[in-house]
Amino acid sequence: MGSGYNVDAAYGGALVFSEKYRQLLSGIERADSITFNPQKWMYVAKTCAMVLFKNRDLLETDFRISAPYMNDTNFTNLGEVSVQGTRHADILKLYLSLHHIGLKGYDQLLNESYLLVEEFVIQVKKRSYIELASEPDTNLCCFRGRPKYLDSKQWDRWNLELQQFLLNEERVFFSLPTYRGERWLRAVLLNPYTPISTIHKIFSKIDEFYINHHSNKS
Ligand SMILES: Cc1ncc(COP(=O)(O)O)c(C=O)c1O
Repeated sequence: MGSGYNVDAAYGGALVFSEKYRQLLSGIERADSITFNPQKWMYVAKTCAMVLFKNRDLLETDFRISAPYMNDTNFTNLGEVSVQGTRHADILKLYLSLHHIGLKGYDQLLNESYLLVEEFVIQVKKRSYIELASEPDTNLCCFRGRPKYLDSKQWDRWNLELQQFLLNEERVFFSLPTYRGERWLRAVLLNPYTPISTIHKIFSKIDEFYINHHSNKS
């Protein structure tokens, strides 16, 4: 196997289309291969995912598995250098989206994502009972409640209950990944039609949960 560095830009790769945030990808040009999924932050209907190689020959030298049922040809059959043989022309969706939304449109969509995440972070920081995992680089924000009225060992459980509450009562879904051994809520602020008022509403519901949880326990 040849050695090489792959950058997982499945999500963040979209930033190449942002005037303001493109520099967050700096250094990516040193990668030997890049994973990029326009089905994520480029709003292309699933599936549309790719791996880009700096040196295409690697596909032949390191990845090729001959398909015995194919005739010898003087070109490489794409099915021999990738997991799937037969596939949809998913790239067409990206091509058409680029035509339809355009570079300016994508730039605007990405900026709007950042406006949403900025407001989200402001709301997190306003509340002493919520902690931010880190300053977001993208439109993903990870946070967790650590209510003082509970022992820290119970915070994971509290965050799980908050996740369920938001899902059941508000139809708002935050995933609940484990990070540094603790459960965090992860918000993906992707929908450009989300009004800022929705973020405010979510946080007033989080406050409600925080207060009610306390009164239910005491
Ligand atoms: C950074 C990153 N890498 C990889 C993946 C997996 O992508 P796929 O859905 O194509 O398996 C995801 C999915 O969300 C992702 O965010």
